[in-house]
Amino acid sequence: MAPSPPPHPLPAALSLSRSLSPSPSLPDTPSSQSRLSQLSSHLSTASHTMAAVFSAANVPQAPEDPLFGLMRAYRQDPFAKKVDLGIGAYRDDHAKPWILPVVRKADEILRSDPELNHEYLPIAGLPQYTGAAQKLILGADSPAIHDGRVATFQTISGTGAVHLGALFLAKFHPLRPAPTVYLSDPTWANHNQIFTNVGLQIAKYPYFSAQTKGLDIDGLLSTLLAAPAGSIIVLHACAHNPTGVDPTHDQWKQIATVIRERGHFPFFDCAYQGFASGDLARDAWAIRYFVSQGFETCVAQSFAKNFGLYGERAGAFHWISAPDAAATSQVTTGNIASQLAILQRSEISNPPAYGSRIASIVLNDPQLFAEWEEDLRTMSGRIAEMRLGLRQRLEARILADSSNIINGSQANWAHITSQIGMFSFTGLSESQVKVLREKWHIYMTKNGRISMAGINSHNIDYVAEAIDSVIRETA
Ligand SMILES: Cc1ncc(COP(=O)(O)O)c(C=O)c1O
Repeated sequence: MAPSPPPHPLPAALSLSRSLSPSPSLPDTPSSQSRLSQLSSHLSTASHTMAAVFSAANVPQAPEDPLFGLMRAYRQDPFAKKVDLGIGAYRDDHAKPWILPVVRKADEILRSDPELNHEYLPIAGLPQYTGAAQKLILGADSPAIHDGRVATFQTISGTGAVHLGALFLAKFHPLRPAPTVYLSDPTWANHNQIFTNVGLQIAKYPYFSAQTKGLDIDGLLSTLLAAPAGSIIVLHACAHNPTGVDPTHDQWKQIATVIRERGHFPFFDCAYQGFASGDLARDAWAIRYFVSQGFETCVAQSFAKNFGLYGERAGAFHWISAPDAAATSQVTTGNIASQLAILQRSEISNPPAYGSRIASIVLNDPQLFAEWEEDLRTMSGRIAEMRLGLRQRLEARILADSSNIINGSQANWAHITSQIGMFSFTGLSESQVKVLREKWHIYMTKNGRISMAGINSHNIDYVAEAIDSVIRETA
């Protein structure tokens, strides 16, 4: 006869609690008392050593987010002349955060509204806000809006919008496995984790040419041509992060041609509309062009930078269906909106109110809208001035020096003024970035990206001196 299997061991806590309950036949004697107290002390020790499901072995320590790590190191640096060129947020000429005057006004209007309350917003967000956000990105006269082919959801800023789009594509793309998502090389670092976290495969397309410090249009086009048909292509609508390099209108047209030819899906990320050039329509040109060409596409829109509403998390996700003669695109758009609502409900239930209320007040009032455009010009204008000032200072130092130590790419700073938006990809190497931080207390990301917003009339000479000195030291 086969030996009977050993009884399945009871979980420690359960078997102990069983042995703790006094047996009905056990008289309450001093010896049973002492056994009970022995067991109870055993139980309290055992509860500290119970096998845990999660341990350091299966949950490894994750690296700190590089950008937030940089911000922390900057805050802790006591050096008086330290400079923060890492942060992707606008600073005024005194290196202070700037509350847009129009946002202050909207805030007063909001706070004096007797109807204001703290009720939940609808799942898709504040309707006045989502309607205005649609018009802002696609143009008030957009045929897609007119045809009812746009579904818009208020999101947790631009990050939430990219995520909602990524989640929708992962869940509903008809191809299985879902197509690969192509990201520019380099890109905003968070793109990588947002798309992989929803289970999508990612790949890169060339974007930045280290030689020209401009767009590698040939590399970009040939990679998109060679990518499997129907791939998802993430495109920065304007003010590419981290390079500050945008395609020209002609290059956008070439990109659109290849995307159409290969049946790819263009996914726009727009975090800097109006902040890049100071002109809202100009910064939305690429998106509007693709929509005018009848592409099915989606857009992640952020109001963090252009309203200075970073922490208020105001953004929007727009789905734009392709036009079709039978008008089935309206039905498709409605179905997509219904699915987005389920995703949104399960993730955030409904979006936060404050930032969207502020943006909505401004976007829906012509006078305040005009004041906002003025604020956008103030921000982009100051940044453009700093670009020019830095370039002039660096080039003047090189020209003034007869030793000609600096040659080649690091002698040419034209890219500082040809790049656009918040960032400039300087071409500084990782070791040069390290010296700038350790010797000069100037903080920037390892890839040599600087936030132009961190430069002001008080530190621009110091920054130019530091960069020039580091280049000479390492030449
Ligand atoms: C390219 C890009 N996309 C999206 C975002 C999202 O920003 P937020 O979530 O703060 O709106 C950023 C912010 O830096 C960005 O640079």
